[in-house]
Order: sequence, then structure tokens, then C-alpha cells
Amino acid sequence: MIKINDFSKSFTIHHLNQTREAVSGVSFDVEKGEFLGIVGESGSGKSTILKSIYGTYKPTTGTVNYDSENFGSVDLHNISDRALIKLRTKEIGYVSQFLKVMPRTTTLELVINSMLEMGVDKDSAAVKAEETLRHFDIPKALWHNYPNTFSGGEKLRLNIACAVVKNPRLLLLDEPTASLDEKSKLKVRETISKLIDNGTTLIGIFHDLEFMDGLCTKVYDMNTKMLEERAV
Ligand SMILES: Nc1ncnc2c1ncn2[C@@H]1O[C@H](COP(=O)(O)OP(=O)(O)O)[C@@H](O)[C@H]1O
Ligand SMILES: [Mg+2]
Repeated sequence: MIKINDFSKSFTIHHLNQTREAVSGVSFDVEKGEFLGIVGESGSGKSTILKSIYGTYKPTTGTVNYDSENFGSVDLHNISDRALIKLRTKEIGYVSQFLKVMPRTTTLELVINSMLEMGVDKDSAAVKAEETLRHFDIPKALWHNYPNTFSGGEKLRLNIACAVVKNPRLLLLDEPTASLDEKSKLKVRETISKLIDNGTTLIGIFHDLEFMDGLCTKVYDMNTKMLEERAV
């Protein structure tokens, strides 16, 4: 479903008139229904890879191919902006460590809107949104609040809730459990497990990959640049 070939990314630091290579020599592929974990030290380029799969960063060299439902096989960096937006709305979910807060949108509305984008009808969306917020232990008292005042953990759980209610074909997770307590981490694990059962393909960056033991089907190590199969 995803094939990355000889990927590298350099950033130009304009005020220093310098170009710095963030990551290079990355190749891997992920089949439909697989769950790839990416591991490596901080600054090794993990988030850069994920952002390139989401189309936020353009690779300096190499290609990122995606087998999409709407457009067939595409080079994610050689499609129109419209097509990319469609893929992000309908097929590819992305959970970053930061919440994208929409002005004047309550917590409940955020989750509902996420489903409306997928074409779910309003009533079903409302029911599912409440169920999901409950699952992630977002207190009911906060459902009609604007989430900009949420704690880091609440924001992250809301972020994950918005992404998973869409039941995406491909879900990208950038350290989704980093700032969570044990209980919330287990909820995330449970959710990921359900998504896998529903056929979602996942690529995730995890600090402690042991936590994903039994779920990851493959691991890519930034240090060795090796892809390793895992028994599940
Ligand atoms: N937009 C950017 N501009 C300049 N440098 C960047 C940018 N994004 C990432 N980098 C640099 O690329 C390297 C890899 O970053 P990142 O992919 O975030 O690593 P990781 O997620 O593995 O911690 C780091 O040295 C970081 O500073
Ligand atoms: Mg990162």
C-alpha cells in the first residue's frame, strides 16, 4: 500500500545559508493490513518520513508511492493539491503530537465534523462521537468546551479520537502515546488493535515499541535502515 524508495530529505536553513540532511537512504514497503513501527533516536528523521507520507514534506530524493482507493497507484508528491486533499480527507489519517484546534469548534463538534467529512450522516456521527469520547475518557463536562485549554494528554486523546472515528484506510501515528499515562496508553493500544481488525493499515512512531508487541507486523530501524518482520 505504501512504498518508499531511496528517500532522503534535506532542509535549507536560509539564515545560515546551509543545507542539512535530515534523513537519507530510507526504503521500505507496507502491505495492506500491516502495522509498521518506526524506531530510532530523537532527530533521526522519523517524523520527517511520516510527514512525507502525509504529503507535508516533499522528498529531496526518492519516491513515496501509495496505492489509493480513489486514484489507484499514485506518487504522493506528483499529484494535484486537490487529489492530496481528497486523500487526506477520505483515506489517510495523521495523528501528530500536537492538536490542530479549529477556532470556535467544541470538542464534540470536532469529532462529529471528522465523520461528516467521510459522508457519515449527522445522527450516526453524533452517536459515534459520544461513544468515542467516552472510550477515551474525555469527561462529559468538556464535550462542549473548546479544546484549546485541554491538557497535553487530553489533546492527544482527542486527536486520536478524531482520526480513528473516520476509520481511515491508512493511519499515520507520530508518538501517539508519548505523553499519556498507563491507562490511556492501554486505550490507545485497544483502539489500534480494533483498527487492525477492521483492515486499517498503520505506520507508527513509538518510543517504547514493546508496548506495541503483538500488534506490529514489521519494524523499521532508523539506525540500521533495516526492515524486520515481526511475529504477531
Ligand atoms: N522543517 C524543518 N526545517 C529544518 N529542519 C528540520 C525540519 N523538520 C525537521 N528538521 C530536522 O530534521 C531532523 C530530523 O527531524 P525529525 O524528523 O523531527 O526527527 P525525529 O522525529 O526522528 O525526532 C532534525 O535534525 C530536525 O531538526
Ligand atoms: Mg519526531
